[in-house]
Amino acid sequence: MSVRDSDTDPAFQKAGQSLTLDAITHRFGSATAVDDVTLDIRAGELVSLLGPSGCGKTTLLRIVAGFINQTMGRVIIGGTPIDDLPPNRRSVGIVFQNYALFPHLTVADNIAYGLAARGTDRAAQRVRVEEMLALVQMHRFADRYPRQLSGGQQQRIALARALAVQPRILLLDEPFAALDKNLRLDMQIEIKRIQKMSGITAVMVTHDQEEALGMSDRIAVLSQGRLEQFGTPSQIYDRPETLFVNTFVGTSNLLPGHLESSDATSCAVRLDDGLRLVLPRSAEKIVPGTAVLVSVRPDNLVFVDGGEGLAGQVELGMPLGTTIVHEIVTASGRTLKVSSARSAGAQPLASGTPIRVVPASLDAVQIFPAPKP
Ligand SMILES: Nc1ncnc2c1ncn2[C@@H]1O[C@H](COP(=O)(O)OP(=O)(O)O)[C@@H](O)[C@H]1O
Ligand SMILES: [Mg+2]
Repeated sequence: MSVRDSDTDPAFQKAGQSLTLDAITHRFGSATAVDDVTLDIRAGELVSLLGPSGCGKTTLLRIVAGFINQTMGRVIIGGTPIDDLPPNRRSVGIVFQNYALFPHLTVADNIAYGLAARGTDRAAQRVRVEEMLALVQMHRFADRYPRQLSGGQQQRIALARALAVQPRILLLDEPFAALDKNLRLDMQIEIKRIQKMSGITAVMVTHDQEEALGMSDRIAVLSQGRLEQFGTPSQIYDRPETLFVNTFVGTSNLLPGHLESSDATSCAVRLDDGLRLVLPRSAEKIVPGTAVLVSVRPDNLVFVDGGEGLAGQVELGMPLGTTIVHEIVTASGRTLKVSSARSAGAQPLASGTPIRVVPASLDAVQIFPAPKP
């Protein structure tokens, strides 16, 4: 994708450039906040940095923006290292968690701010502000002040301001944290729409797995400054590579057991609860005989009438609209969640009902080495 510098380009022209984080490490004093992270983000992609509080997401974003100079590694935009450039020369737009709009400026002047700062002439500023107001569907609000806008509207303006200067990369730090839960989904869809339409490369920080799964082309899962996995939402959810990713993203039941055997295409696990599972994949990184944790998502456990299965009884049943979640207790006293589609009028099983469950898909069962105690 070629570099453009005209301020009058249509808002919808594809704008994004690739972004590479090359072996980035950052230390605050002796504490390592980012630990050797490498990511290749493609032009036009929306990538989420997902992980718990304190795992280094904001630090990485600030390194890309140029507010922090990393201890080691390189930031490369569109093939060119930019580590020597100050923040205002990196062509990176940022939307902060609290939007940080200028309270004394109108919506139009907020959007024009970056253009004015770089000396764009007034006529071109007006054109660009119009384009941006149209893009975020806020044309009627040009003369309002930020305090006269709702949270969602302020966020649109913050986005319009960030995009007005035609950055090559858009950074979003927890952009939905300040919004009501029911407005959040609307804004997630809206931001995704605007991002795709403008073609900009976007990196979004979030600790919310649903947000990351719903919006991202790819997700980088971080834990304690390290990259755990970088993949599409379905790779992250269906094929977590580490126990951390498995447990941080989605809900899972973890069942302790031992690996009995493993070959090129399958492996056998004996659960402490008795059931033996043969999974259609090699457990090549695990030594047979050692302790493992087997992960089965609640929607991959089904009730069976007889035969092999984990025996137990219903503790509690919760009808949640389109699904029913049963909490069950196995014979050995382990609590598991079972989630099933709910047809109209269906009632949960009564507490105390004896049941058996098995994984519906053995392919969707994950196996990890048990963490050292
Ligand atoms: N300016 C700073 N000085 C010292 N430590 C910091 C600073 N900023 C962040 N940290 C530490 O670096 C780690 C990562 O922080 P941060 O990137 O803000 O995490 P996240 O955004 O994932 O919540 C945390 O342990 C945090 O306390
Ligand atoms: Mg943060």
